Amino acid sequence: MPKIYVDRVVDDLYILRIDDDEVRYFEALWSIPEGVTYNSYVLLTNEGAVVFDSWKHVYADLFVDTLKNIVDLRDIKYIVVHHMEPDHSGAIPRLLQEAGKEPVVLGHPIAKNLFISFYGFEPKFRVVKDLEELVVGGKKLRFIYIPWLHWPDTIATYLEDLGVVLTCDAFGGYGTPKSLYDDSDSVVEEFLPLARKYLANIVGHYREHIVKNIEKLLGLGIEIKIVAPAHGLVWIRNPRTIIDYYYKLGKAEPENRKILVIYGSMYGFLEKAVNIAVEELVNKGFKVKIYRFTDREQPHISDILGDAIDSNAIVLGISTYDGDIFPVIRYVVQLLIDKINADKPILIINNYGWGKLQEDKLNNLFKTSKFKIVDVVYVNGLPQENDVEKIKQNIEKLVNTIPKHD
Ligand SMILES: Cc1cc2nc3c(=O)[nH]c(=O)nc-3n(C[C@H](O)[C@H](O)[C@H](O)COP(=O)(O)O)c2cc1C
Ligand SMILES: [Fe+2]
Ligand SMILES: [Fe+2]
Repeated sequence: MPKIYVDRVVDDLYILRIDDDEVRYFEALWSIPEGVTYNSYVLLTNEGAVVFDSWKHVYADLFVDTLKNIVDLRDIKYIVVHHMEPDHSGAIPRLLQEAGKEPVVLGHPIAKNLFISFYGFEPKFRVVKDLEELVVGGKKLRFIYIPWLHWPDTIATYLEDLGVVLTCDAFGGYGTPKSLYDDSDSVVEEFLPLARKYLANIVGHYREHIVKNIEKLLGLGIEIKIVAPAHGLVWIRNPRTIIDYYYKLGKAEPENRKILVIYGSMYGFLEKAVNIAVEELVNKGFKVKIYRFTDREQPHISDILGDAIDSNAIVLGISTYDGDIFPVIRYVVQLLIDKINADKPILIINNYGWGKLQEDKLNNLFKTSKFKIVDVVYVNGLPQENDVEKIKQNIEKLVNTIPKHD
């Protein structure tokens, strides 16, 4: 039975959170042993209630039952759909079925079309414009388009009287934190790497929109006291923590001295060469994060992307396999380009038996990428004395090409 929380966030605003610990692969793609939450919110007013988003469809009955504890469903006036991805809109058809008189669904024009195509009927849908205001029971709601966080339909709602911004996927993260709020340092410390992983996996492809939308939000000059996303923590104690972190990651700014090492080694030859590089990096005072694909372990690619976005540089170990790039590493690189695509230097170490990796294979793979290949070091089987030298020299070259950040 998944854990459910209901709490009053502030005044007449309530959160309904469910911890999905059954999901293994978010979007049927990303391994998340840490689980994820779906957060819906309800604002009570003397003119009726406003529901913001819902839960994934598998929890539709639970959602409606939980909501009944806070509000008489007949009193729901509006349902705001911030984003039509079914992890948030999934329980809305069930809610509409149960609510006596039909509430009006509010959302982006694209959300309206998506609603009809996903759920096969047209609800009473009212399209909202960017920055449109709506007063319900004396409470002012302002809708703000935040496109591509994470789909083109995504909007946020600013509750002016409460200083709350409801942001759906934006500022969200994986995990099922033991608190609803950012009320302790430990809960924040545990959550931030999961927010980074989520951002890299889910909105990484639209990185520049994170930056643009945060600038838009802050440029409105509104007072943001609380950030209330649809995944993970609600930020009350220090909302700037998550806003600033998202902004930094949107720019793929690196953590101080962090270098990512990724390799796949079938029988350990490439691993020996990579270890020389790692040792050299450690000696130079870098913090090295290593992901290895071997016959004993397979890391989650979802985690690799999370660690790539704030790295200074990447060392990529590739064995030649059937005349080509070791398959899982090719897949990792494709996702790195798809999701992170940042101006970060990459050193490639190729280990081969009878044929070096041909340059065109690498050039084809990286042709749409902002990553910069600093060099390729070729090692034939077991690394020899001169390979050690070559690797050390190339590590020097790699760290010298790390772009300077203020
Ligand atoms: C299934 C398989 C396919 C391979 N294909 C090639 C190849 O096409 N060209 C080549 O030079 N070496 C090939 N090799 C040899 C490896 O690239 C070489 O042994 C290298 O040292 C492997 O390092 P690793 O064991 O750390 O992965 C292949 C090895 C295996 C096991
Ligand atoms: Fe989404
Ligand atoms: Fe989501």
